[in-house]
Amino acid sequence: MALRTLITRKSPISTHLGFRGLQTFSLPDLPYDYGALEPAISGEIMQLHHQKHHQAYITNYNKALEQLDSAISKGDASTVVKLQSAIKFNGGGHVNHSIFWKNLAPVPEGGGEPPKASLGSAIDNHFGSLEALIQKMNAEGAALQGSGWVWLAVDKELKRLVVETTANQDPLVTKGPSLVPVIGIDVWEHAYYLQYKNVRPDYLKNIWKVINWKYAGEVYDKECP
Ligand SMILES: [Fe+2]
Repeated sequence: MALRTLITRKSPISTHLGFRGLQTFSLPDLPYDYGALEPAISGEIMQLHHQKHHQAYITNYNKALEQLDSAISKGDASTVVKLQSAIKFNGGGHVNHSIFWKNLAPVPEGGGEPPKASLGSAIDNHFGSLEALIQKMNAEGAALQGSGWVWLAVDKELKRLVVETTANQDPLVTKGPSLVPVIGIDVWEHAYYLQYKNVRPDYLKNIWKVINWKYAGEVYDKECP
């Protein structure tokens, strides 16, 4: 039942394919130009990250969903099970990157402007200060082995902020069903290597200059009205 829900869920960036009602996904547009986040993140990185990496997750997610649809219709249980890791990895890649683009904004459009109102107060209450939160996320992001994500999340049940990390392309929901991403930072090498080489801490230090706290505040207010 859950799988049926997954593959037939309507999305504004999905495409209706086939007579069985399978929905696939397409690359969302960025809300800014590729070069608009410079100098924090180069236009070359943004273009490759969006057009190549995010697109590859979507292409492979769609392929896995089509194979899943076929396997379900044939009653092929072993193939249904076999496809789960590809769905988690590529579907997670699509989910995570779709959030990431919205977490960034050019400086003239408010990128890097500190959070205000309820999110700003919640950060001060939970972490001591915005600077303390940034240091915590940078430390956890730098320490994450291999590839993954570091998140500022709101636990919508407990109504509190938490910092989490996920490995590979695991979406945040794999760490807890009540966790909602407020800010997600991609710490895969493809997110910074062309500009920062192997120095992930420098990338993490600079990305805060283009974090879209206004969007983060809207997510927080929705979960903690
Ligand atoms: Fe990425």
